[in-house]
Amino acid sequence: MNKDLSQLQQYPFEKLSTLKAGLQPPAQLDHIALSMGEPQHPMPHFVIENLIAHMHQLSNYPSTRGTLELRIAITDWLQSRFKIQPGMLDPEVNLLPVSGTREALFAIAQCVIDRSTGDAMVMMPNPFYQIYEGAALLAAAQPVYLDCLPENDFLPDLDSVDESQWARCQMIYICSPGNPTGAVMPAEYLRKLIDLAHRHEFVIASDECYSEIYFDESEPPPGLLGVAAEMGNDRFSHCLAFHSLSKRSNLPGLRSGFVAGDAKILEKFLLYRTYHGCALPSATQTASTAAWGEESHVVENRRLYREKFEQVLALLSDTLAPQKPQAGFYLWAKSPIADTEFTQRLYAEQNLTVLPGRYLARDHGSGNPGENRVRMALVAPLDECVDAAHRINSLLATL
Ligand SMILES: Cc1ncc(COP(=O)(O)O)c(C=O)c1O
Repeated sequence: MNKDLSQLQQYPFEKLSTLKAGLQPPAQLDHIALSMGEPQHPMPHFVIENLIAHMHQLSNYPSTRGTLELRIAITDWLQSRFKIQPGMLDPEVNLLPVSGTREALFAIAQCVIDRSTGDAMVMMPNPFYQIYEGAALLAAAQPVYLDCLPENDFLPDLDSVDESQWARCQMIYICSPGNPTGAVMPAEYLRKLIDLAHRHEFVIASDECYSEIYFDESEPPPGLLGVAAEMGNDRFSHCLAFHSLSKRSNLPGLRSGFVAGDAKILEKFLLYRTYHGCALPSATQTASTAAWGEESHVVENRRLYREKFEQVLALLSDTLAPQKPQAGFYLWAKSPIADTEFTQRLYAEQNLTVLPGRYLARDHGSGNPGENRVRMALVAPLDECVDAAHRINSLLATL
């Protein structure tokens, strides 16, 4: 067996199941899950109809590079969303469709990391989406955790990395808007990181799968490629951005996203992917083309999240008092008692499941930055989220 597999931790939801094992929630309350970030707003009908109408395409092998129509639809979307001048992104070389960002965020490490150096490092935020760590470990690289703390606006502290670490860094994962913190990386932060990537020759893998979930319609979060283009890095060198229809269009089961940016890396990634065998089914590609070309369902999706955040934050403002995130659909709230105990009591006494923050982060010597925080995904319908806030308040009244 591959020895590196032994370095993988249990996934947070498995740890959560163990934590809840043996607890008996009150039977008169229906279960509410705020633990998993699975979108539950309605899927856009036109995408489903499009998918069904193209099922006959199952009779052909799909192309790994993706159809030109899909690549053009994505290019148009990127240009308009991130104010990238037409012509800078070439649909022939600057992007590839992926089976959801999870798959691609994992696979990119297999493509980019040169294990022959024997000392490769992969930087990542802490707390973080667990795939980054597994990807680094299975590419024989050392994960380096950059704590995201309130004093740094929940952004990885780039100044905490020393020159010798940058010299070994082959890739950095960033996540903006962040899961679980909701922190958005400002353009000047991204500019600084792009400069560092050029100086030290590493790749930026920017996970932007929450980029379309934000509160102010006039202030969409910046993205890596938009900032690179603005800096004159019109080849997007060292830059890769990962996007998905899962959160934007409430289609987590479609398994559809894309990676865009540096053509030199994507050429090799396409080669890797041809062997890996992860082409999107043709019907998925056609339906995705339709989804990337339509924005009104995304605006409506944001309205639903805005409504939930307003009501839930109002109910919790004098009690748990979570900070409103800058974007995304998570609350990253401080827990009044240990995060694991708070999670257990919410389940045992209120039949409500949240995720202990410590399961999403690592202690690499200065404490676990997720400890005594819980992540709550406001993905359930409005009435359930409001009910959940009341249940949290009921438990808090007993502490
Ligand atoms: C930060 C982050 N990145 C990537 C993903 C993967 O999303 P998908 O593979 O559905 O695009 C998730 C899913 O929850 C996530 O939270």
